[in-house]
Amino acid sequence: MNKYLQDYLISPETGDALILTDISENALLYGQLKGNDPVDIFNIVNEIPILLKHNQVADYNYNILDIILKDRTNEICNEILEKHNGNHELVKEELDKYILYEYGKEGIVKAFEEYSIMPEDQKLLWYAKLDKGQENDDNSQIPLSTLNDGISYATSENGKKRVEMTEEMISKWACHLMDYGRLVTDNKSGVIVELATGSGFGTCGVINSGLGNSKLISIDIDYAAAANAIGIAKYLRQEEYIDSLVANFWFIPLKKGSIDVVCSHYGLDEAREINRILVEISRILKVGGKFINVSRKDPTIRIRQTFSNIQFSEEEYIKLASYAGFYCGMEALKKEAEKNKLILEYHNVYSPKHSHERIISVFKKK
Ligand SMILES: C[S@@+](CC[C@H](N)C(=O)[O-])C[C@H]1O[C@@H](n2cnc3c(N)ncnc32)[C@H](O)[C@@H]1O
Repeated sequence: MNKYLQDYLISPETGDALILTDISENALLYGQLKGNDPVDIFNIVNEIPILLKHNQVADYNYNILDIILKDRTNEICNEILEKHNGNHELVKEELDKYILYEYGKEGIVKAFEEYSIMPEDQKLLWYAKLDKGQENDDNSQIPLSTLNDGISYATSENGKKRVEMTEEMISKWACHLMDYGRLVTDNKSGVIVELATGSGFGTCGVINSGLGNSKLISIDIDYAAAANAIGIAKYLRQEEYIDSLVANFWFIPLKKGSIDVVCSHYGLDEAREINRILVEISRILKVGGKFINVSRKDPTIRIRQTFSNIQFSEEEYIKLASYAGFYCGMEALKKEAEKNKLILEYHNVYSPKHSHERIISVFKKK
């Protein structure tokens, strides 16, 4: 973690500025961030601050889990993660099986229906809730992947793999990625926040366009994904300009009006409560700041993948998506963005031969 990051960080719960504690030689590698409230203590694990609540899973994100598993989410996830040593593919497979077996199609639909009529603060509660009054035990937020082979994500070796994969992808079908990078890095100064590091393709696209004097903060709820940004930065020798955070987009731990550009490369497509995310994007952006987004033109592609092991009809998919506040396409995004003073300035549709159509859109904060 670079020291400059501290100037932007706040507690997701209280909004207080966070300060670094335990400063020693390796303070930016391992240490803690503290707020005014004694329960606001967040670990820095292998140089990545984990701005999540006490005991939340930072190892794996699957955007509908807590709708169904509710307060059993951590317990079930940790059990399955441990069993498969943090292997994401096996974990997803087993989680899907578990959910289908335990709840069945009817149980899943019921959980979504119940979720849809909850007041907003309750919907966000799983991520917002602090265990007030509890001792913050030191290991509570250390993701399993760091205890297994996860350290390898934040290495130059992993970064190299990601950069090479991105180059291959650009030549095959990611025709939009260079345009995206150019739009994001237009000013070559200020602070850029990336929502959803994921595999790091978008991160590479942005860095390849040349950051100039700008700083990049890449955010993901999944530790291994966030660590990909560190790996890429190390491989490209740009560690000074690039930071990573583990946090939820619903509570972005950055100061109001402090950010020049927010960008996302297929981040909205895999999240839920998009309206809430737009509130947060607008809050952290400066007036005149930009939000640059890449998403699939047809939102149902992703929704179908989310429920791929469960037999839902098209109509059923769409209904569940509306209950969970999934990304519902460009028109819906534009409307909701406008409510948050984010005005669409430009958009372009890309239609590669062998892949889905996608849209780059640029919004300006009024
Ligand atoms: C499709 S991936 C992003 C792809 C990536 N930008 C790339 O180009 O390789 C989506 C990511 O969003 C993250 N995510 C989904 N919902 C989130 C949320 N509410 N808060 C934080 N991260 C979230 C997931 O952990 C996942 O890594």
